[in-house]
Amino acid sequence: MRVMPEADPPLAENTRNLNTKFIPIFASFAFFVVSFLNNLNSYNSRATMKVPLLDLKAQYAQLRGEIRAVMDEVCEQQQFILGPRVQAFEAHVAAYCGVPHAVGLSSGTDALMAALMALDVKAGDAVITTPFTFFAVLGAIVRLGAFPLLADIDPVTFNLSPESVRALLRHPRERLKKYVAKAKVLLPVHLFGQCADMAPLLDLARQYNLSVIEDAAQAIGTEYPAPSGAAKAGSLGAIGCFSFFPSKNLGGFGDGGMAITRDDSLAAALRTLRVHGSVTKYRHELLGGNFRLDELQAAVLDVKLRHLESWHAERRTHADFYDRAFQGTQVRTPRAVYAGKNLRNYHTYNQYVVRLPERVRVYTALRASDIGCEIYYPAPMHLQPCLSHLGYRAGDFPESEQATREVLALPVYPELTENMQQAVVAEVLKALSAK
Ligand SMILES: Cc1ncc(COP(=O)(O)O)c(C=O)c1O
Repeated sequence: MRVMPEADPPLAENTRNLNTKFIPIFASFAFFVVSFLNNLNSYNSRATMKVPLLDLKAQYAQLRGEIRAVMDEVCEQQQFILGPRVQAFEAHVAAYCGVPHAVGLSSGTDALMAALMALDVKAGDAVITTPFTFFAVLGAIVRLGAFPLLADIDPVTFNLSPESVRALLRHPRERLKKYVAKAKVLLPVHLFGQCADMAPLLDLARQYNLSVIEDAAQAIGTEYPAPSGAAKAGSLGAIGCFSFFPSKNLGGFGDGGMAITRDDSLAAALRTLRVHGSVTKYRHELLGGNFRLDELQAAVLDVKLRHLESWHAERRTHADFYDRAFQGTQVRTPRAVYAGKNLRNYHTYNQYVVRLPERVRVYTALRASDIGCEIYYPAPMHLQPCLSHLGYRAGDFPESEQATREVLALPVYPELTENMQQAVVAEVLKALSAK
């Protein structure tokens, strides 16, 4: 049978075909309009984008290959405790900080504990420090049976104020006199990524025969304008302590810490203390602990160390953006007091912390809009329930207490984009202007 060629369909049918073809196009257009209106609606009630306080996945995405390769090597070697990776990482941190010794430890808390033990702080001694910090500092001092002699902060930097320390040492309140006489260590904390004012603190330490432990948990790589030039946080006192908690500028895949020192005998003591005080196997010279850093952490951290300087720079760029964006508003931006002093890392912004007149309102609004923010710290150490036996009272450290009422940390991690920062600024200002 011969197959006839198909005749052209009549015009009406042609048009019907055309209509059928257009139905999906119209449907997609309608869908687009509806979702656009929906988005517009949610724009009014929520921020336009989610901005986490920290996005570790963004960092990992850039380093996945490098990190997996070294982790694989550790898995193949099956040596997990204090091996070649820890040694290499220690050598790299020591060189980075310009000191001869770095000792890998299990956390920043254990670094503080080991540092205090290495300086023979024990029951009956006193340690001078700040009430506006993370609990680890006070926890380590009190666990050793020592008394934390607190001095207030400088309201500009949030760091231990040399004037307050001087006043404490020269004119202690009656109740504290006996502890001042027992003061053995001065322990400033380089909070949020900016150094405490070390020159006058070191002077006081010399004058009163105190050893200095720097808590540089939040400030690895930060510089201080020492008379001899830029000095890295942790390298100025007898021992400097770092934390590699994941949220730090140099963060591990779990807990980790380190202590650095210029002193050979302190370095030896730290190495001994981290293995239960034993120099030779099963012979214990000191009462130490298990304060060891493991190979997997060291391997990851050593990869990240190579990127640390560029992350610091990005954090600073973000801080500059906020500084400019909040200029002339009610937001009091952090002051980088060593900027312009010929330092690269005058501040490394582990946290970008502003002061706000109505913090609760801003905090609630940001959280409701999926913008990450956090309060570091909501209560000073002298008012912590487990430290009430120390005898401190509300009102003892007005600057620290005021800071706990006003501070708010905003996202400042390196991978943050300008759009994200704009969203943060817009939301903060909107919350402040809302009646
Ligand atoms: C100032 C300060 N000191 C000490 C620590 C304790 O470090 P880690 O959490 O590694 O024990 C931290 C960490 O959060 C800290 O911020």
